[in-house]
Amino acid sequence: MNKFRTIVWACMIAVMPISAAIPEMKTDKERMDSFITALIGKMTLEEKLGQMNLPPSDDIVTGEPQSSNIGAAIVSGKVGGTFNVKGAEKVLALQKLAVEKSRLGIPLIIGMDVIHGYETIFPIPLALSCSWNMEAIEKSARIAATEASAAGVNWTFSPMVDISREPRWGRMAEGAGEDPYLGSEVARAMVKGYQGKNLSANNEIMACVKHFALYGAPEAGRDYNTVDMSRLRMFNEYFAPYRAAIDAGAGSVMTSFNIVDGIPATANKWLITDVLRNTWNFGGFVVTDYESIKEMTTHGLGDRMHSAALALKAGTDMDMAANAFVSTLKSALEAGMVTEIEIDTAVRRILEAKYKLGLFDDPYKYNDVRREKTSIYTEENRREARKIATETFVLLKNEGNLLPLSKQGKIALVGPLANTAANMPGTWSVAADFSKYKTLLQGLRDAVGDKAEVLYAKGCNLTADAAEEAGATMFGRAMRDSRCEEELLSEAMAVVKDADIIVAAMGEASESSGESSSRANLELPDVQKRFLQAMLATGKPVVMLNFSGRPTVMSWESENIPAILNVWFGGSEAPDAIADVLFGDVNPSGKLSTTMPRNMGQIPIYYNHLMTGRPKSKGHNGFQKYRSNYLDSPNSPLYPFGYGLSYTTFEYGELMLDSTELNTDGTISASIKVKNTGGREGTEIVQFYIRDMVASIARPVKELKHFERISIKPGESKVVTFKITIDALKFYNSSLEYVAEPGQFQVMAGPDSERLSVKEFILQ
Ligand code: BGC
Repeated sequence: MNKFRTIVWACMIAVMPISAAIPEMKTDKERMDSFITALIGKMTLEEKLGQMNLPPSDDIVTGEPQSSNIGAAIVSGKVGGTFNVKGAEKVLALQKLAVEKSRLGIPLIIGMDVIHGYETIFPIPLALSCSWNMEAIEKSARIAATEASAAGVNWTFSPMVDISREPRWGRMAEGAGEDPYLGSEVARAMVKGYQGKNLSANNEIMACVKHFALYGAPEAGRDYNTVDMSRLRMFNEYFAPYRAAIDAGAGSVMTSFNIVDGIPATANKWLITDVLRNTWNFGGFVVTDYESIKEMTTHGLGDRMHSAALALKAGTDMDMAANAFVSTLKSALEAGMVTEIEIDTAVRRILEAKYKLGLFDDPYKYNDVRREKTSIYTEENRREARKIATETFVLLKNEGNLLPLSKQGKIALVGPLANTAANMPGTWSVAADFSKYKTLLQGLRDAVGDKAEVLYAKGCNLTADAAEEAGATMFGRAMRDSRCEEELLSEAMAVVKDADIIVAAMGEASESSGESSSRANLELPDVQKRFLQAMLATGKPVVMLNFSGRPTVMSWESENIPAILNVWFGGSEAPDAIADVLFGDVNPSGKLSTTMPRNMGQIPIYYNHLMTGRPKSKGHNGFQKYRSNYLDSPNSPLYPFGYGLSYTTFEYGELMLDSTELNTDGTISASIKVKNTGGREGTEIVQFYIRDMVASIARPVKELKHFERISIKPGESKVVTFKITIDALKFYNSSLEYVAEPGQFQVMAGPDSERLSVKEFILQ
């Protein structure tokens, strides 16, 4: 038995009869069970409730600030863990209080929002999903885990797998976009990356899948707002990524703030116990989101004690930041509102997580201060982050092959995002150290060296409204220029006059998206549009880089600006990565994981919608009376799901099937040839979709079922094959049974969700 577990054992054995000491057990599970049973047997009710309590640290604030006096609470056994403390030494000090000063010496679980990297920041999750590169995404999570664990963190509040078709909602930035299949692939990759093989190594940390469930569908796109949807929609369109993360072994789940079927997720027994635990066999622990139990009172579910009791009975184990379990469950128990068994069950799940993390073997395994010094923000990690970032950018338009730029002459870099290091990483970069990162201006200058000159002027602020800009540039990211619009513009005009080309860094700032960053208007702010107009009026070629944490409504830009590269928020290495793509050292390959609307009125717009009874006639462009369309807008998006250009061109052949009949245990091979018809090597993301033509419920017009990322040399062709089995045809029917129904199907393949070659087959 390991030294530290021996210490906990020694404490326990001191207060228990020798006869209760553990006999040699056979399996790991049995060993864990008996260790925890014995430990629970020693705990007072107060200590049990302490394990279920997760107060915030006051180091990094991610919710309503609280002054927690956490040290004293830890010593008295009232804390099971804490979160968002930066630095191995700070964590070590807290861990020592728990292990060496509390009665039973139970170690703390230490959480952090390591959402897309620790100090080496990767692109925001929405951007990562546009790489469609699962290996790279897994690697990003692995590196994040390696860095975070070196700084004392053993639990990350990631992956966030909420499907969203709601770009007004700022938290779309934190997820993998609109598609359940792509979202599930990403969820799996991230869990694998964080948790590694089995959580036993000191660089493997526990994942926390969030926000369970449906947080991505708030009414009107306003954060924390009401969610209401049918169970069919939950199961067929929103649940898959949570399930995929659970199947990949995620150790914990975070409930969402919203209601599900009228009941706050945190107290929703159907959701947490029936679906998550009993149907999906989730065996880990469930933590609330920040103060969720307190918010149940605001939702109208009753006072704190009542809410806490409901949450526990629903299957929630740990209370983040509401101080509700620790302060009310004793009275609730006395009042008969909850049982000791329910409390013990929750405590057991939390202790199991600590056991699996190896904290009872060595509570200080994540607190190696030397490792912290050598394994964070390393050259190697930065190289990976830069490479992955280049794969997330989506080339939306490239008229006359304006891009890539050559490293010569005078390049004018302008725009509000051009010279701000702190706004490169994007939202939820809680451990970022902005002082280490470059600005885009530095990135471009480093890339061209003395071959070209990069001129700079800011040109305009983010928005005309200073208060709005302050909200979007919080947490040390302020960048507002106090000069007036005319002054900024005239400075820029003087600079660009000498330039051969203009690169405009436009869009959102870091906190324009993320939590509590809903926006009612997703167009570029007027001040940015006026500036772009002035740049176009110079007659010089203009390249627009769009920084964003969500789809931007860019109809005007897409009509008027010759080249647009959507760069999202590319992480700490974004400036170098953008330079790599702008100058053609890397050929862009990203494809949209979210539909880009033409205007606000189209929202929600997503590719895998249902058929209406009155669709528009195929190929009809104008308005059609008594059809499902708008008087003043086309139905089609500006850029569809799956779309993205390259510096080379790809030509798709016809989709070929090796059979048009599928048996329930058979396979059809659907193959398509892709040829690189351009002048340089490129990576193409080949997509396959399926449509169920006749079923017992209305089915989507298409659903992504397979994709492959392939690299093709100029003139070369590759054949990509999707092996269709019955699994790709299954869905939840009206009785919520997961079935494939015999009949006619379409399979489609192509470069995005619109340009598709179609074939039909029959499921026998
Ligand atoms: C967010 C979670 C986050 C938590 C802890 C909440 O406000 O909704 O996503 O993990 O804070 O920082």
